[in-house]
Amino acid sequence: MTPLTTRGFHHITMVSRDAVRTLAFYGELLGLNLVKRTVNFDDPGAHHLYFGDEGGRPGTIVTFFEWPHAQPGHPGVGGVHHLALGVATAEAQLKWKRRLMDAGLQVSGPLDRGYFKSLYFADPDGQILEIATAGPGYAIDEAPDALGQELLVPPAERMPAGRDEQAIAAATHPEPVPTVSEDMKLQGIHHISGITADLERASDFYAEALGLSLVKKTYNQDDGKIKHYFWAHYDGENVAGNSSYTLFGWPGSRDLARAGAGQTHHFAFRANDDDDQAAWREHLLSMDVEVSQVMDRTYFRSIYFNAPDGQLLEIATNGPGFAVDESVESLGSELQLPPWLEPRRGEIQSALSPLA
Ligand SMILES: [Fe+2]
Ligand SMILES: [Fe+2]
Repeated sequence: MTPLTTRGFHHITMVSRDAVRTLAFYGELLGLNLVKRTVNFDDPGAHHLYFGDEGGRPGTIVTFFEWPHAQPGHPGVGGVHHLALGVATAEAQLKWKRRLMDAGLQVSGPLDRGYFKSLYFADPDGQILEIATAGPGYAIDEAPDALGQELLVPPAERMPAGRDEQAIAAATHPEPVPTVSEDMKLQGIHHISGITADLERASDFYAEALGLSLVKKTYNQDDGKIKHYFWAHYDGENVAGNSSYTLFGWPGSRDLARAGAGQTHHFAFRANDDDDQAAWREHLLSMDVEVSQVMDRTYFRSIYFNAPDGQLLEIATNGPGFAVDESVESLGSELQLPPWLEPRRGEIQSALSPLA
């Protein structure tokens, strides 16, 4: 049997109070492609917008449920703290800083995290976002074939007391950046960072349930008392893109995440196909993890379960993909409904807030 090891993320789903505002922010400002407009299949009164790269490749997909009356949530144990989207270079990252600041956003960074550089801001609902550089990667302080072996203390210059805050604040691109140039294109989920009350338990779970490898054990570079662990798809030599999941450890904390607007609802890892997913479901059941039936999401099939801290997780199949009900060229241009909701199109469409 092939070992059950995910290749990385499939998508992340967040909560928006205003689909038009979300479309403007992620579509126009961040330059992501709207690859599907549909409804929440479990709640057809709510928009479900999918953004991604041009074809909506798994690992690049960022989706939103629109719940106009959702209360604001907050990060905490069992939830996601922030989502990082990838960018190729530090130069392009500075262009992002200029573009976002010119749009009136509060932006901090770029901070040198060693393994990548990070720029922070928030979306209109308050979801904390990061734009992180692709490199230099996890092998700067451990051998590439021996990642995650030791608990590493970050060097003083990467910690708050060692930073030149003025220089960081001043760093930006010299010219306005009115369009998202080719070099700025966001490359999908660079990492997702959450919070756990028990890093060791989480480590065992993500290894056993998803086949993720611990690739870095270090401390939070904004608060050196907090441990920060990184997992990814790692073959012993290379760490796969779109696969890094990180957790801050708040040992024994009962400060739980609160679901709501500006928070992540859940995120999904990839299964190769239906057989892979079925084997995974059996595997999770054998671990005594409660797992849903396979759900047909039209563009992929899904199973859902919770991590020990409560984080809602999904395993989604790579296929069939977003071109199953509209052509690649017209992805996201019209409301698409699954066959079982199609007879209610008129009613559903008139109840949704207009998108444009
Ligand atoms: Fe991050
Ligand atoms: Fe999902």
